[in-house]
Amino acid sequence: MARVEICDASELPVGAMKAVRAGEVRLILYHLEDGFYATQAHCTHVFAPLARGKIVDGCQIQCPFHRARFDIRTGAVVEWANFPPGVQLLNALRREKALRTYPVHVENGRVVVEV
Ligand code: FES
Repeated sequence: MARVEICDASELPVGAMKAVRAGEVRLILYHLEDGFYATQAHCTHVFAPLARGKIVDGCQIQCPFHRARFDIRTGAVVEWANFPPGVQLLNALRREKALRTYPVHVENGRVVVEV
C-alpha cells in the first residue's frame, strides 16, 4: 500500500469533491462534515464518472447516469440504479456492487490517501 499526498486540506471545502490521481489510481476525494474520504472514480454499475455526480444527504454520492447512490464513507450501495424507467433490465446483468474506498488522513494540513 502506498501513501500519496493529494493536496492541501484547505483546497477542498466541506461539501465539495473532486477527481484526483493517486499515482496510477483515479479516485474521488470528498470533504464531508466529519472529514475527508475517497472512493474509486467510476460507478460500479456501468462505469459513469462519479465526479459528474452529486453529494446528497451529506454523505452519499449519486451517480450521474442512473442515480445509484453509495455511502461515501463505506462505499456501500444505498440505492441501486433506478433511472430512467427500464434500467432494471440492465440491472439483471449489473448486480449491486459497492464502491472501493481508500483510507484518507490529514497530516500537517496535507491530504494523504492510501492506495
Ligand atoms: S453508471 Fe452509475 S448508476 Fe448506472
